[in-house]
Amino acid sequence: MKEIIKLTGISKKFETEFMETHALDSLDLTIYEGDYVSISGPSGCGKSTLLSIIGLLDSPTEGSYILDGEDVTTLSVNREAEFRNKNIGFIFQSFNLIDDMSVHDNVALPLRYSSEELTEQQVSEKVQHYLSLVGLEHRAMHKPNQLSGGQQQRVAIARALVNSPSILLVDEPTGNLDSKSGDTIMKLLDELNKNGSTICMVTHDTTYARYAKTQLHLLDGKIVEQNAEPERQLEVAV
Ligand SMILES: Nc1ncnc2c1ncn2[C@@H]1O[C@H](COP(=O)(O)OP(=O)(O)OP(=O)(O)O)[C@@H](O)[C@H]1O
Ligand SMILES: [Mg+2]
Repeated sequence: MKEIIKLTGISKKFETEFMETHALDSLDLTIYEGDYVSISGPSGCGKSTLLSIIGLLDSPTEGSYILDGEDVTTLSVNREAEFRNKNIGFIFQSFNLIDDMSVHDNVALPLRYSSEELTEQQVSEKVQHYLSLVGLEHRAMHKPNQLSGGQQQRVAIARALVNSPSILLVDEPTGNLDSKSGDTIMKLLDELNKNGSTICMVTHDTTYARYAKTQLHLLDGKIVEQNAEPERQLEVAV
């Protein structure tokens, strides 16, 4: 199995005027291509911080990070943005859609920042493809605030997928949703993983964490427990 994410000795310290917080403390984590990893733990334990570091939105204070075979700890800001755009799709609890743009234009956004030159026709084809995948092809010309919460999250998923990233980072995807919409989102993530996407999802919800193949727990900035799926435990035992 190919290692797509390898964090070694990652620490993250936040310093404010009044205090120092050690959000991550010498953490090691390897994620393999095609895996579906959940990270759960109490509020403030460092889950979002870890996801930001994996997603190159923030840098660690210490440690090394190899993403898809490349050491990304020392990349320039431009290379980092390029790497992020090409390799990583984000899905957030609060959807983060732009309200005065149509659903179509929201989904097209990552393509506008991509280094690949696409015609408008190609952009529209890709957008339509991913909107159909999340069952929202008939809502392309709506504005996000004309959709339900579950539909908005599906738009956010289409946007995260449009650049065909190698890894999807998901932070509390169901936190703002009723349980029925939450279930739909989880089924969609499950299907994406079955079709080859590597997923790393942060969630408080232990029921949803069970959708993942590898369940990790974060406590005081460290990974404290790991339950791999039975097949994988067997592999390790052999
Ligand atoms: N920009 C920042 N400046 C200072 N401290 C921060 C900053 N970001 C996070 N922290 C602190 O780091 C710790 C970890 O925060 P983080 O957001 O990663 O937690 P979390 O596990 O995602 O929590 P939640 O489940 O509530 O979303 C917290 O104690 C938080 O106060
Ligand atoms: Mg968080």
